[in-house]
Amino acid sequence: MSEISQEIAQRMATLLSGSIKGVGFYPSGHPAILNPLQEIVTIVETALRAHPEVRLGVVDGVLFVEKQLFFAPSTSIEELATRLQEKEITGIILSPGINVSGLARFVTLLGKNQLKAEQINTEISSQGITGLSIITAMDEDQEEIQQEEACLRTRHEALETVEQIFREVELGRIPGSDRISTVVREMASLAVKDSAALLALSMIKDYDNYTFNHSVNVGVISMTIASHMDLGREEIETVGMAGFLHDVGKVRIEKSILNKPGKLTTIEYEEMKKHTESGIEIIVKMKGINPKVAQAVLGHHIGYNRKGYPEWAREMPFTSMSEIVAAADCYDAITTVRVYQKSYNPREAIAHLQTIAGSYLNGDIVDKFKEMMGPYPVGTVVRLDNNEIAIVYRPNLQVSEAPKVKIVMDAAGKRLAIPLRRKLVDEKGNTYARIVAVVDPLVKNIDIAGCLNMSSAR
Ligand SMILES: [Fe+2]
Ligand SMILES: [Fe+2]
Repeated sequence: MSEISQEIAQRMATLLSGSIKGVGFYPSGHPAILNPLQEIVTIVETALRAHPEVRLGVVDGVLFVEKQLFFAPSTSIEELATRLQEKEITGIILSPGINVSGLARFVTLLGKNQLKAEQINTEISSQGITGLSIITAMDEDQEEIQQEEACLRTRHEALETVEQIFREVELGRIPGSDRISTVVREMASLAVKDSAALLALSMIKDYDNYTFNHSVNVGVISMTIASHMDLGREEIETVGMAGFLHDVGKVRIEKSILNKPGKLTTIEYEEMKKHTESGIEIIVKMKGINPKVAQAVLGHHIGYNRKGYPEWAREMPFTSMSEIVAAADCYDAITTVRVYQKSYNPREAIAHLQTIAGSYLNGDIVDKFKEMMGPYPVGTVVRLDNNEIAIVYRPNLQVSEAPKVKIVMDAAGKRLAIPLRRKLVDEKGNTYARIVAVVDPLVKNIDIAGCLNMSSAR
């Protein structure tokens, strides 16, 4: 089943808001409260056939139901957002076991003015309400840390799997696809659930294991772009797999050409260009890989303007799958330092992608990529007006100029042992600090990947 639509999300939020209001007017058990709740339960039960849980809540002051965000809410949705914020509830998780009577008791708790998240949480367990839990503002950091750890584990598994595939191809074997398919599925779930946490992982660069690391990054970035473009699950998994395998054909390129520090000669370049064709030769032999993956791999250097390679494939009908992988490929390549290349910071990299949008890259995809990254992309090192140095780790959906950051140096320039998570502007509009400049991480000797994944690095 596809994701919850905007219409269904709106209906759910409106019904919930109405029921909470109704608590003040009707006795418990009144149809005016129970009927809307029954409708919510039916919606949730339908959604639970395809999803392990259904979440709604408030992020940066904006109400969401699963992936649907209400930037211009109706009065009743705005009331729901306000009510949840007053209660210091950032999310409600609905899961199997949800029923009308439990939901009615929960709504009664939400309707009581004096109760805050902590007491509501206690009541949920003491009243034995099932299929429902809440996330409080205090849990938010913890929740983020757990997500980051899940992403890091999956990325590690992806790296090992990709390396294994490349090694097997090198030995002349045909690799299996079970392990990599599992990784792709897990990562696609993370891309849908928390693309910012996943995207942060693409800041991990490994110069010694460039090919494997680059392949994983291209998969990760491709999946987050696809998720941001609201593509379906199959497409997200296809671009992920294509990203992981896009350069597998390089296994067949001579190492002296592959690792040459500097410009390739014309003959060497012709040799290098063969990696797309070699790639699909390998991929089509791997059982269980969607044919769309091979097509995306074949087209990842063809270019939006069809001036790339392989020349014979220029007239072929490629889909946006190749174009997403191409954008992710460029982004990761230029943000990685190599012997012959200075790296761009994330902001510069996006600006560079814009210079080739409409020619080598699909402009719409670059626009979506830019929108997803915001004015301060994840991994950007910034100086705040209180003189602290911080790394952007999550965008702010409502105030793009004020992303979430991890403070890595205090105002006196002292490095913090554990980075501090801060919202530059919180839900109530309180400002912690403003960004005054983008800083070169090399000048400050900051290990961005290490800081972004500090929770697991300890
Ligand atoms: Fe390539
Ligand atoms: Fe590549």
